[in-house]
Amino acid sequence: MKFRAVRPSAIGKVDAIIVPLASDGSTPRDLTRGAKTIVERIAKSENGAGRPYGVTTHHAEPRIVVVGTGRRDELDTERVRNYAAAGVKSLWRSTAKRIAIFVPDAEAIGADRAVQAAVEGAIYAMWRPEVHRTRAEERRLPPLDTVLLVTGKVASAAIARGEAVGDAVNLQRRLANEPANKMTPTILADEARAVAKATSGLAVEILDADKCRALGMGSYLSVAQGSHQPPRFVVLRYRGRGGKGYDIGFVGKGITFDSGGISIKPADNMHHMKADMTGAASVIAAIGAVARIGTKVNVIAVAPCTENLPGGGATKPGDVFTSMSGKTVEVINTDAEGRLVLIDGITYAQREGAARVIDVATLTGAIAVALGPYFIGLFGKPASFVDAVRRVAGEAGDRVWPMPLTAEYRDEIKGEVADIRNSAGREGGAIKAAAFLEAAVEDGTEWAHLDIAGVDWSDRDRPYAPRGPQGPSVRTLVALAELLAR
Ligand code: BES
Ligand code: MN
Ligand code: ZN
Repeated sequence: MKFRAVRPSAIGKVDAIIVPLASDGSTPRDLTRGAKTIVERIAKSENGAGRPYGVTTHHAEPRIVVVGTGRRDELDTERVRNYAAAGVKSLWRSTAKRIAIFVPDAEAIGADRAVQAAVEGAIYAMWRPEVHRTRAEERRLPPLDTVLLVTGKVASAAIARGEAVGDAVNLQRRLANEPANKMTPTILADEARAVAKATSGLAVEILDADKCRALGMGSYLSVAQGSHQPPRFVVLRYRGRGGKGYDIGFVGKGITFDSGGISIKPADNMHHMKADMTGAASVIAAIGAVARIGTKVNVIAVAPCTENLPGGGATKPGDVFTSMSGKTVEVINTDAEGRLVLIDGITYAQREGAARVIDVATLTGAIAVALGPYFIGLFGKPASFVDAVRRVAGEAGDRVWPMPLTAEYRDEIKGEVADIRNSAGREGGAIKAAAFLEAAVEDGTEWAHLDIAGVDWSDRDRPYAPRGPQGPSVRTLVALAELLAR
């Protein structure tokens, strides 16, 4: 799909035009007279016209798709994403190849950000989960090849950024959507290799079990030892500003299947645990987007990938291991495996020179109990860094909410026979998991943790995300890297 910004007078021949309609009846100033008449007629004749993402289609040549954008004073980038997505989604069964999307009147949010959001929304609307269906018509994509963004004046950088971010989110969703037998640690590492190969300036290194053992990653390897699939520790490096060290390290949980191990999970919904590598997919996709945009920032992405399975060689509850940090870990519950792989990932990123670390993980069921399926749990220190993450996340379109992390929680994860234990009861489970991760954060490192276990998957259709993987956190990571650029 090709995106291009054009002025209203330069639209030329298209198959469909997507037009915003605010709830006060206002439409873009520069509509052609024919289109304006049609939109005004729709606004008058349709009850509730203009309500967010309501679609009314006028079947003419070209087809006019009117999409509600709600109150003008509420228009933000998230509305623009949903607006463009709703319009493109309505063309799903059409034969339209070349379309124009009017970018909503964007004085408050700025033309660049509005254009980026519209490009993202169009790309999100093109994603489908049914890739393994055998009936071709059920997985066929619409034949769209050109999308014109109709706007006053805009730098092409906004389009490029929208494409990089949109493609990265869809990549994360594709990886998360794959079943565990088709997304093993080895295959996930190959996907990371492919991202590096396709992106200039992005270097990849895959560490195998022997290499990880030599580095002392006993905590990570304890999770892998029950599986026949070899673990793969993915490292991607991007040095956009040159010089030494990394401004930020992205660390993502890459459990390609979480059965719980010897502390095995109940069968209900266990199949969903194929998506327990969404954190890894996020950091791989996000660093790819940062490199593609060419942001002047140094980023390292780390994804410890493995299955978590029971078996004769698996970790037993009570076993003790030494992590790369040197701290010893008591495995009380083998189903609390995410924190075990992450602490070695966090230590590795710091040893490689990351001054800040943000980890992303489908870490706890408890975060879904606390926040429901709408917010990512945000933890970390110092407060200034956590606030910065919260701010950029909101603008990027991820909904995050800060959670507490105080000394009481650190006390609870102290081990009986080792330094720390990986499970300490259900109450405040998401916070205790974060406290465990914090044990790997060295003095002076700024650190944030995103628990995406509540939001990574949805059973409901939303304007720009159908049922299935939702792609959370990728945009936040990209926006954070941009914030740290100089
Ligand atoms: N991968 C799960 C968390 C999860 C649950 C993600 C539901 C998505 C949906 C994680 O590894 C896990 O099993 N956590 C346990 C921790 C407990 C054993 C301390 C949990 O949340 O129950
Ligand atoms: Mn688990
Ligand atoms: Zn897990």
